[in-house]
Amino acid sequence: MPIKFNKQNNKITITTKNTLYIMEIIGGRHLGHIYYGKKKRGFDPEFHYRCGSFTPYHENLYQFQPDLARTEYSYFGGGDYRCTSLKIKNADGNSVTLFDYKKHRIFKGRAPITRMPYAEVKDGDQTLEITLWDSHTECELKLYYTVFYDCDVISRYMKITNKGKNAVDIEKCMSLQCDLLGRDYDIISLHGAHCWERMYSRNPVRLGGQTIYSRRGTSSHQFNPFMGICRRTTTEERGDCFGFNFVYSGNFLGEAELGQEEGCRVQIGLGGDNFGWHLTPGETFESPEAVMTYTDKGIGQMSRNFHKFTRERILPEEIFENRPVVLNTWEAVYFNIDEKILLDFAEKSAKYGIDMLVMDDGWFGAREHDRAGLGDWWENPAKFKDGLKTFVERVKKNPLKFGIWIEPEMVNPDSDLYRAHPEWTLRCPGRENMLSRSQLVLDMSNPDVVEYLKESFEKTLGDVPIDYIKWDMNRHLSEVGSDFLPPERQKEVAHRYMLGTYDLYRWFRERFPNVMIENCSGGGGRYDLGMMKYSHQIWASDNTNPEWRTKIQYGSTVPYPVSTMSCHVSHPGDSIKEIDYRYTVAINGMLGYEMNILHMDDKVLSRIPEQIAEYRRYEELIKTGDYYRLLNPCECNYCAYYFADEANDNILLTFVQLTTDAKAKDIKLKVSRADLGATYVDKKTGEKYNGVDLRRGVVVTTNTSDERFCRMWELVKE
Ligand code: GLA
Repeated sequence: MPIKFNKQNNKITITTKNTLYIMEIIGGRHLGHIYYGKKKRGFDPEFHYRCGSFTPYHENLYQFQPDLARTEYSYFGGGDYRCTSLKIKNADGNSVTLFDYKKHRIFKGRAPITRMPYAEVKDGDQTLEITLWDSHTECELKLYYTVFYDCDVISRYMKITNKGKNAVDIEKCMSLQCDLLGRDYDIISLHGAHCWERMYSRNPVRLGGQTIYSRRGTSSHQFNPFMGICRRTTTEERGDCFGFNFVYSGNFLGEAELGQEEGCRVQIGLGGDNFGWHLTPGETFESPEAVMTYTDKGIGQMSRNFHKFTRERILPEEIFENRPVVLNTWEAVYFNIDEKILLDFAEKSAKYGIDMLVMDDGWFGAREHDRAGLGDWWENPAKFKDGLKTFVERVKKNPLKFGIWIEPEMVNPDSDLYRAHPEWTLRCPGRENMLSRSQLVLDMSNPDVVEYLKESFEKTLGDVPIDYIKWDMNRHLSEVGSDFLPPERQKEVAHRYMLGTYDLYRWFRERFPNVMIENCSGGGGRYDLGMMKYSHQIWASDNTNPEWRTKIQYGSTVPYPVSTMSCHVSHPGDSIKEIDYRYTVAINGMLGYEMNILHMDDKVLSRIPEQIAEYRRYEELIKTGDYYRLLNPCECNYCAYYFADEANDNILLTFVQLTTDAKAKDIKLKVSRADLGATYVDKKTGEKYNGVDLRRGVVVTTNTSDERFCRMWELVKE
């Protein structure tokens, strides 16, 4: 069994396939953390007591000093001066909190989290629930640890119930705390902005602590909620690496802080800047779920742990046998949706082997440009003479699947919805609302708004045979207040916004079970495990320039499987070389096209069916294979990686050079998963390679004149 309690020494151990996690109930009241790392037989480390001067302790337990101890969860004002997990303001007006261990239980499977996305369990998975109690506020705290045994992942979240007579205010709340042993850690994080999301960066964890965060109401382009914590010496292939992530799409806070003498505290959760919760007597608050993994096999294995976990426990089941290769209209026609042109698009798409036409922005309300129409979710009758349904039926006759763009959470001031319900936007009394892309944000914390959206989409799309929805979200939140909530609940708005948004996602999934959702927020502004629970793939970025894409894709693969990445070949001009280069870059994810095929050279277009046929050969490998990064385009002029299936029978190796090199050099691409005794044939060239040579490295000579140099090896075991 993965979770065990030893009554003799009060230790609770959690095991996954390759990892071990140990905690101890100290003095009958505190939860001490002992170990998180590699599973070792017969290994039974002790809790390490640390005492120091100036450090507070409880009278009968002087050797447990919260500021120096490694703990499972920590409380503001209770003698721990590091970043703490929970801060609650009580009826006396102070925020000192201290929860004592009361009991725990271990059960099969997991408990659901209300209105939020969470990972699914399988047979053999277990959950540990620890109950703690704060006698002054009379609040009960429950900490949850669910073990995803095969994936080497443990999830964490908390639940707090006010059992007292007075209301309290949760001022900071973290879902996961992990006190690591040692101090020589680097933090890997993914930062960026619109059009350059998830740039890989690795820095030492400094004294004074380091944070990643979003205060934007979305998980954001600026920081992704993923944190990797590895030893200074850890590489892609070797060394300790911990991974942390948050199953949530709104504001978050990730913290990494070195202790004064020892240890490194890592936390992730809602934080306290943009979050608060007024907890009245009898009320319960649940935090979102956070996940962690560990490996001693480097950053690459940390990624593969998370990839497997995301594929098997987070992502929805595939709807179609193959992911549809789409042609998206955005970069071809922008807001100029014209039935006739789109039908021509459809016909030509089908001719060139594309599976689906996605009609992007511009089809509804008065949406001639980005200053009007959001919120009015009915088809523009001037654009569809015989109605949307008939138009879609015509598209589908080609035959072709059909996808449609929506942006439910937003409203333009120039819209019927806003004119009727200005009180349905996020707003604060006495403040002017700020615009972004000429739009305001709907108050998704108000159930009437969510209801309005369900009714609109039911009416407009209910009988239209759609196969796919691209769900966009194109601005960050400001004036985060709600007319729907009383003053004491205004700090809840950002989180309630997410709860309302998830309610709508769930409604879509239930109402349109055969429709695939592609998530988007101005590209990859909500690229997170929360969104992945409802959407199969995410539009990785609005930037489709191939050099940038290699970097964006590289970063995205650190926590997320490539099957979540929607990658389009855009604007190749009239060059076959260019379309092939862009294709080679795009198939580090799920392939699609975004270009005006009506105005393209037939020679270039004829590459599309060939590319799709090729992609279909290894789509399964891309979707489910083990992924190995070889060269980081954020750190050099190249990107290289390979996929291998479980048996190492099929390997797809890719090399992309970003710009020309001043001097040619030989680079070795080492395929460590090649079987030593085997011979592999490259299906593209017929060339043979033996396993030993592949492990030593396929040599590629970089290019001094070719701007678009790239190579692929489709290696199949003989
Ligand atoms: C966002 C998306 C684009 C496109 C436009 C439409 O920017 O990322 O792909 O859908 O909105 O307005």
